[in-house]
Amino acid sequence: MSHRGHFVTKLGVIAATVGSAVGLGNIWRFPYITGTNGGGAFLAVYIICILLLGIPVMCAEFIIGRHAKLDAIGSIKKLAPHTLWHYIGYLAVAASVLILGYYTVIAGWTTEYLVQSVTGQLNDKTADVLKAELEAFTTHPYRPLIWTYIVLLVNYIILKRGIQKGLEKASNILMPLLFVIMILFSIRSLTLPGASEGLRFFLQPDFHKITPTVILEAMGQAFFSLSLGMGILLTYSSYFSNKTVLIQTAGTVALLDAVVAILAGIVIFPAVFSIPEVSPEQGSNLVFATLPYIFGQMPASALWSSLFFLLLLIAALTSTLSLFEVSIAFCTDHFKMSRRSATGIMILIAGVLCTLCSLSIGTLSHLTIGGKNIFDIFDFVSAVIILPLNGLLISIFVGWYLDRKLCRNELTNHGTISAGWYRSVYFCIRYIAPALILLIFLSGLGLF
Ligand code: PHE
Repeated sequence: MSHRGHFVTKLGVIAATVGSAVGLGNIWRFPYITGTNGGGAFLAVYIICILLLGIPVMCAEFIIGRHAKLDAIGSIKKLAPHTLWHYIGYLAVAASVLILGYYTVIAGWTTEYLVQSVTGQLNDKTADVLKAELEAFTTHPYRPLIWTYIVLLVNYIILKRGIQKGLEKASNILMPLLFVIMILFSIRSLTLPGASEGLRFFLQPDFHKITPTVILEAMGQAFFSLSLGMGILLTYSSYFSNKTVLIQTAGTVALLDAVVAILAGIVIFPAVFSIPEVSPEQGSNLVFATLPYIFGQMPASALWSSLFFLLLLIAALTSTLSLFEVSIAFCTDHFKMSRRSATGIMILIAGVLCTLCSLSIGTLSHLTIGGKNIFDIFDFVSAVIILPLNGLLISIFVGWYLDRKLCRNELTNHGTISAGWYRSVYFCIRYIAPALILLIFLSGLGLF
């Protein structure tokens, strides 16, 4: 096992796994869908989804990876030789590479906005100017790509150093920094004039808004936010030591992921409501146009917008590291490549896909399938199709194919720790998760 590398500290395990989970999904997607889908009521549904679906499926991935100690495909092959189950692993590698194609592009935009904040170029612009500039920037043929390639280079530098010196070290520095910035921001935001109105928009429970579609939306968000079904957690757990307590790790990661998502809402909405002329918007406009406008109205605006984009960049970067790790582990374990060449090859492949995704917003926007450009197709195929399909297959594989004793041994560290939660987690893996995921999947495909 030693030649594969492994996490050496408990903090490293948590920091890297939380680093993967905490990303753009927490900071720009979660606050908005919570605010518009019933506030506190949506939050309650979301938390139930994390408990019934998120933590069990995470444990299922951990069982496979930690037991087999190989990449996503190799691990499943080892546990189910001469069967077709390892195709789950191929799907996972494919999904992670597709997600890298567009996720890294957004990380590139974030870098541009960080640089503009630090150099003070974002200040003193009206919301409309900021929106027009965002549009001009994202559709430009090469400006976003320069930053995307720089993000890829940073990924290369960290990843080629291996698990302990690269991934673990970077996560141990970046994740605490992320939490510190997040807390600073929460304090700043809660002392703004619009704080109570913003919090009301974000958290006031409105149970009338909880429809079946909203429940499905909450499940989908839990899935994406915890990086489930992409072989990421499986791959990371292959670097865990035999002492790592899987259920406790899954619980901690899920809790920290939810805390960051909630803090993001506590930061964003009071800020949005502190300026009467802006209204809460979704996605890119909220983060790259509305928020810079709001920061521009505050004292020390360059400082706050720089801190915000730094926060977003850290969140995105630690997620891209984890996405790369799935395919790098596959290349080193399966093709016996050196870590350095595996990293180099995957960065190049991602570079090509990122180029296509970035161009598809502007120059190549005429290339569409069913009205979707390449960027949206990558998102649809990976997040809406492969991710839930894989989650479903993983829970069936662990709950129904794998030997029950093996699962029990992994979840209780061979009986050396109390089996308290084992039964409930195993029950969810076997029955609840497959049923719930099937629902998300069918709804994602628009089948009901
Ligand atoms: N979990 C990340 C987020 O919330 C997204 C992600 C998806 C990261 C897939 C890695 C892989 O933004």
